[in-house]
Amino acid sequence: MTHSADPKPLEARKSTALHGEVRVPGDKSISHRALILGALSVGETTISGLLEGEDVLNTAKAMQALGAQVARTGEFAWKVNGVGVAGFAQPQAPLDFGNSGTGCRLVMGTVAGCPITAQFDGDASLRSRPMRRVLDPLQLMGASVMSCAEGGRLPLTLQGARDPLPIEYRTPVASAQIKSAVLLAGLAAPGVTTVIESEASRDHTELMLRHFGATISSQPEGAHGRRIALTGQPELRGAPVVVPADPSSAAFPMVAALLVPGSDVVLTDVMTNPLRTGLFTTLQEMGASIEISELRGDAGEPMAKFRVKASRLKGVDVPAARAPAMIDEYLVLAVAAAFAEGTTRMRGLQELRVKESDRLEATAAMLRVNGVEVAIEGDDLIVAGRGHVPGGGLVATHMDHRIAMSALVMGLASDQPVRVDDTAFIATSFPDFVPMMRRLGAEFA
Ligand code: S3P
Repeated sequence: MTHSADPKPLEARKSTALHGEVRVPGDKSISHRALILGALSVGETTISGLLEGEDVLNTAKAMQALGAQVARTGEFAWKVNGVGVAGFAQPQAPLDFGNSGTGCRLVMGTVAGCPITAQFDGDASLRSRPMRRVLDPLQLMGASVMSCAEGGRLPLTLQGARDPLPIEYRTPVASAQIKSAVLLAGLAAPGVTTVIESEASRDHTELMLRHFGATISSQPEGAHGRRIALTGQPELRGAPVVVPADPSSAAFPMVAALLVPGSDVVLTDVMTNPLRTGLFTTLQEMGASIEISELRGDAGEPMAKFRVKASRLKGVDVPAARAPAMIDEYLVLAVAAAFAEGTTRMRGLQELRVKESDRLEATAAMLRVNGVEVAIEGDDLIVAGRGHVPGGGLVATHMDHRIAMSALVMGLASDQPVRVDDTAFIATSFPDFVPMMRRLGAEFA
């Protein structure tokens, strides 16, 4: 299956200037982590601004199935009463993570540190994604894979360790999911669990663990890396979490505002953690008019207001070292590059091949079917910008929310409309995307 049971096609048309102020939904990475750390804490965690998208709701259900009390107390407001580190109970049914690699892999880490057995499953997209990258270190810590599909994939059954071992682990790829799974398992181990990454990935787990009372340090390692050391068996205490707006979701109205002539859009409370802002840096290098103001922070996570005006963009060379800080944004960056003047080369995108879809191939196909010249050379994506995009194509979303939203953004500024075969997966990360974009002036039919 490559789309939902009830596909929702949609067409985006050339729109007049986009205007208005919006707050995109809460950050997906932080929302997952707030629920998980709340569930591993003693006492109450209150969360405001939680992303109520399908991915995060599946994590909330998993936390309930593992014994935590999770309740919605208002719009985007949630309350978690946790069971304490290593306190998860045996779940009665398989844990279903739907489309979400983050929910699945982080919860594998928590289960690995508890003396329980849990089954993990997900949709066809998640079943096709690699899990060995997380299972390998978790097995070193004492967890066992009782059964799995070919290649270490879902559905799989994981037995947690009765006495988990702290390890020192160098991640084979820059991945916050691998790092976080090891750290979450390390919570239950005595002594210090260390993760070394040669390129720093998003550090929300580290920041939030500290906020919940854990002792964790993060030191530079080599040119771009980090060495993270967590002291095991802390007593995590429930804490309030304010979830800032998701920069990966803000990317869509931001690029739309840059591309639709005459637009002037304000995005509020956008998280500006430097390990997430690669797209903003790249767009500014391309000549984008982005004004950043009202910088402030909460629980270690900075946020700011962004004012974005339509801009003439030029092609740029995006270094591979920037990839971890914008890994989810290459699809929409490729759309911006197609409207720019000149060639954009995006380097070192091998990790895009194992996301919700093979995003390297899917991005190239999305552009090609709309008349854009594009090439893949090794792990690089090269887009020939011509200042405009012909459009007129039907884009296959491959169960991938970000392909759907990127293609719709493209259609708002292309010569001919762009059609998307299925927008249903947008609900995994940005349920309000279509109405919010319409409020800014986007034309969808
Ligand atoms: C995420 C990490 C990234 C990212 C994903 C969210 C997280 O994945 O692509 O959307 O919240 O830790 P990898 O860790 O596989 O790079």
